[in-house]
Amino acid sequence: MYDGLDGFLPWRASITLDVVFLAMFLVIPVMGWSIYQVKYRQKYDLHKKVQLSLGIVLLITIGFFELDMQFFTDWGQRANESPYYDAATGSGAAMCALWIHLCFAVTTAVIWIYVIVQALRKFPKPPVPCEYSPIHIRWARIAAIDMSLTAVTGWTFYYLAFVA
Ligand code: HEM
Repeated sequence: MYDGLDGFLPWRASITLDVVFLAMFLVIPVMGWSIYQVKYRQKYDLHKKVQLSLGIVLLITIGFFELDMQFFTDWGQRANESPYYDAATGSGAAMCALWIHLCFAVTTAVIWIYVIVQALRKFPKPPVPCEYSPIHIRWARIAAIDMSLTAVTGWTFYYLAFVA
């Protein structure tokens, strides 16, 4: 059975799985740096540009990733060698990890779109603190934590399915 292009990392994942796995090692520090810039250095415009770029890059990457997962890569076939997954029954710790990961990934996508759209609408241009700040700060913190948990659970799934 055809199950997508082999990735470039030395494990069993396909190319888009490798790209997303590695991309998260970049996204998390860049997001942390952007939050540091706005919180401690008042670089509002820089924060806006970085968060918008992250949002766009993630949207494009996840778009390709989803197309690959739906139509090309049979990840279960690739995970079959793992002691944490049984392709015949679709069970194992890897499956459990995937469901936990999906809970974070789906809520992250929704919250990020909400935070970005609202920030673009409510902050002045160029962005500076205003009466909308407390709402942005509350939801943006949730968005950042959710994104971090999406990364950690995604790496865990990747390890259980394609490395172990
Ligand atoms: C999902 C995307 C975003 C995330 C995760 C995010 C994250 C954050 C966080 C965590 C803070 C609070 C830092 C603190 O604790 O003081 C913050 C502040 C801020 N963000 Fe964002 N942000 C995002 C998008 C945006 C966008 C698109 C804009 C501009 C249109 C923006 C403008 C601001 C401003 C002006 C502040 C300062 C608020 C204040 O201190 O009064 N953010 N952001």
